[in-house]
Amino acid sequence: MAGGGDKVDYVFKVVLIGDSAVGKSQILARFARNEFSLDSKATIGVEFQTRTLVIEHKSVKAQIWDTAGQERYRAVTSAYYRGALGALLVYDITKRQSFDHIPRWLDELRGHADKNIVIMLVGNKSDLEEERAVSTEDAKEFAEKENLFFLETSALQATNVENAFQTVLTEIF
Ligand code: GTP
Ligand code: MG
Repeated sequence: MAGGGDKVDYVFKVVLIGDSAVGKSQILARFARNEFSLDSKATIGVEFQTRTLVIEHKSVKAQIWDTAGQERYRAVTSAYYRGALGALLVYDITKRQSFDHIPRWLDELRGHADKNIVIMLVGNKSDLEEERAVSTEDAKEFAEKENLFFLETSALQATNVENAFQTVLTEIF
């Protein structure tokens, strides 16, 4: 147990957004439970999971919210973003369209969330290098222009998932 007890010093809400099937729910499963499933079902509505970690000797409970990328399954947007201190803005490196939609997700995020929200652009499925449709350079350039953190992850291989959340949570802290 983080911190050796039940005491929680901070609770930080972080939201996951991005197109359907980019891997938001599997990124969360990897972070919260160290699990991964290849036959993950599309999320309907809103779910959240928590994990408590230690940051600078304090116990921080990360409350990670996950919603549907599919419009018809999405819950009320403002409630989803309310109180969020961090966001992972996820696309799939093998689906160009999911990257092309990132500016729209960013608009929605900036329209609803706190102006100081910490945002990490995440290119997921880095294990599928041979199917890559978005270069690391393009994404890095976009992230710099928009003042976002940026990482490529693989929920499948557990690459950079920990790092992505750690970076956002530490920056919130
Ligand atoms: P919605 O809930 O519809 O918004 O989708 P989502 O973004 O939550 O996607 P989900 O996590 O359900 O993953 C979609 C598919 O991609 C599933 O078949 C996952 O197993 C697969 N997937 C997720 N992450 C990875 C990854 O890092 N690598 C590979 N190869 N597949 C992944
Ligand atoms: Mg999902």
